[in-house]
Amino acid sequence: MERSLVLVKPDAMRRGLAGVIISRLEQRGLKIVAMKMLRMDRALAERHYAVHRGKAFFDGLVEYITSGPIIAAVFEGERAIEAIRQTMGATDPLKAAPGSIRGDFGLNIQENLVHGSDSPESAEREISLFFSPQELVGWEK
Ligand code: RTP
Ligand code: MG
Repeated sequence: MERSLVLVKPDAMRRGLAGVIISRLEQRGLKIVAMKMLRMDRALAERHYAVHRGKAFFDGLVEYITSGPIIAAVFEGERAIEAIRQTMGATDPLKAAPGSIRGDFGLNIQENLVHGSDSPESAEREISLFFSPQELVGWEK
């Protein structure tokens, strides 16, 4: 079983696509184990996207991800990280396959609707930025 941090980004929230995005991940067979709505501040954004610090798009990325409310969620499932990345589609919506979230709803490489962790190490780090261990809810009896 893997876990992944998913963010419904501010553009998706503004466009009323949160339900569709969460629904597609649920329909894929992934389970929600944590969820909250929040507005990221600059400090959290810079930590979350620390690997991109120094890149040309970093400042714009921080501006964008802090520009409005988001939904943060943890999804769990078999090979969840790869399954979520596939369901999201490529970073650039124009390169994302039709049928993926970005391929169906996106146009802009920055405002690309959704985030999903890219490795188990990233997932562990990112989940701990948004959730305490007690906030991860178990489904077992
Ligand atoms: P994410 O981390 O949000 O799941 O997206 P990703 O792995 O597909 O893409 P990544 O390379 O990690 O980039 C993080 C986010 O930065 C914005 N971006 N803008 N203007 C640009 O060229 C550019 N490149 C990336 C996107 O919002 C991207 O999702
Ligand atoms: Mg990434």
